[in-house]
Amino acid sequence: MCGIVGYIGDRNVYDVLIKGLHRLEYRGYDSAGVALETPEGVLNVYKAKGKVSNLENFCKDKDLQASCGIAHTRWATHGEPSDVNAHPHFSDDRKLAIVHNGTIENYQILKDALIQHGCRFHSETDTEVLVQLIEYIKLKNNCQLIDAVREALNQVQGAYAIAVIEAGNPHQIIAARKSSPLVIGIGNDEFFLASDATPIVEFTKEVVYVKDNEIAILRRGEPMKLVTLSNEEVSIDVTALELSISQLEKGGYPHFMLKEIFEQPVTLRDCIRGRVIEGGKSILLNGVRDHKDKFINAKRIVIVACGTSWHAALIGKYLIQEMCDVPVNVEYASEFRYNHPVLEEGDVVIAISQSGETADTLAAIEIARDKGAFVYGISNVVGSSIPRATHSGTYIHVGPEIGVASTKAFTGQVMVLTLLAIAVGELRGTLTKEQIAEYGKEINAIPDLVKQVLKLDEQIKHLSAIYTYARNFLYLGRGYSYPAALEGALKLKEISYIHAEGYPAAEMKHGPIALIDAEMPSVIVAPYDHLYEKIVSNVQQVKSRGGSIIAIVTEGDTVISNIADHVLEVPKVPEWLTPIITSIPMQLLSYYIAINKGKDVDMPRNLAKSVTVE
Ligand code: F6R
Repeated sequence: MCGIVGYIGDRNVYDVLIKGLHRLEYRGYDSAGVALETPEGVLNVYKAKGKVSNLENFCKDKDLQASCGIAHTRWATHGEPSDVNAHPHFSDDRKLAIVHNGTIENYQILKDALIQHGCRFHSETDTEVLVQLIEYIKLKNNCQLIDAVREALNQVQGAYAIAVIEAGNPHQIIAARKSSPLVIGIGNDEFFLASDATPIVEFTKEVVYVKDNEIAILRRGEPMKLVTLSNEEVSIDVTALELSISQLEKGGYPHFMLKEIFEQPVTLRDCIRGRVIEGGKSILLNGVRDHKDKFINAKRIVIVACGTSWHAALIGKYLIQEMCDVPVNVEYASEFRYNHPVLEEGDVVIAISQSGETADTLAAIEIARDKGAFVYGISNVVGSSIPRATHSGTYIHVGPEIGVASTKAFTGQVMVLTLLAIAVGELRGTLTKEQIAEYGKEINAIPDLVKQVLKLDEQIKHLSAIYTYARNFLYLGRGYSYPAALEGALKLKEISYIHAEGYPAAEMKHGPIALIDAEMPSVIVAPYDHLYEKIVSNVQQVKSRGGSIIAIVTEGDTVISNIADHVLEVPKVPEWLTPIITSIPMQLLSYYIAINKGKDVDMPRNLAKSVTVE
């Protein structure tokens, strides 16, 4: 949700910033802007509504020389997407420029007070209030920028990652964070800063993850300094990045989303590696092993997540209940944080988040910790906030996911939940050694089976042409296929803007069946499992009301294949592994329908990859 970049050093500042903005564009693309400070200390700000490419066009004939600079790509919160609301924002005297990711909750009170003091505002943003406040304090106290930033941040409520530069001081950037990610890259007499490491990795592997309530002082020719909001200096913890540049490129695919769909045999292998051990006879998750008492004694497990991660959580519930015989509640993090959650000693809370930065999930974790629960994180982004806020956890290790619609992260999350369920089942004695050995074998086979499913690509491309202009879709499934259906529906609506509703197939007769007619296709997820006979009846109920059906079935299916209009056959796997296999044709179907409609699948409207606001 919004991306910020900054650079100070000998390289071409504008080029570093623009490249960085392109890498961060998945975080928001309503508008983009740069603030560049010339070696003589003159501050220029250029910004444009829309994507980073619009900004580049706008900057073509501008003075782009600079010693330092900051840049931003926006996902609008306060004020519509427009040139004027785009970041960076100037202070009133145009001596300071700021970029900001997050929201300032008490901005209206601060704004009213500043107006009383004669400040003039030009945009509708909360960010402009912050830069005006910093300027006001700086002038009033006649102090240095760092002191004004510190005092201003002490008055601010909300979430922020900010970077500020100052006219006349071309060798300094001040940056700070609270509840919004901020990474500093340390190069050779140069500094980079960004919302995540993707703009930094091609320049340096040495990074510092700034923590909440810390302010970074980056000055050319001096070591980086970190101070707290109460002005105590903190030690710098430099981490080596494991990211590679090739992971951030499209690798010959037209879109990141398609690349990420096709990467799944490899990402699932990476996710399993080192975790299915002893030739498949045991499952090793360090995060579980190191806290085994918590899992052995858990009376209940609560899983919190949002969006696609919430769908993975639902599958986790089915897995853990089946394999560990412990009750599992699944909650939207955004609801959990406000519904007076009742947690008891012995409860384990699992938080799932691809980005590791989702504001609602972070807030849910804080509440769970405050109530004394043991909190386990499942995340993709190494060093992000959620792994740091939890007691223990597991990375899904699927590599950077850049397409806004989650694909490989979903299957990675489901795989980690599967491993966790087996590991906990082993600890609690609810699975036998023989079962675990069998399960290990089945898991090891999954990457190759996913490769096989991807061969449906051409068939799905053709099928997509038939359904591109449907205005509504129903996605139905039962058991493990119900959350898979929810995820299929979410993928379609996110990138094609077709209304799609996921439903438990048996619930359909309690209402949604009224919607079914020749104009309302249904995708029915019906692999061979213990509910197969039941879903056959649901397929017939749709058919007898004139609805057309795309069915995802197990290879060799003869019953549903004879009823459905179109059939996508997937290899046979045990039912607890079906969501990984059945979700892939639905990812491809959404992709091709969106492409047929000419939509921007990697940057769908109104969305952003990392949702760091409420
Ligand atoms: C859907 C999607 C979103 C995210 C949700 C949670 O394709 O990407 O629904 O799943 O915003 O994000 P994370 O997993 O980063 O917490």
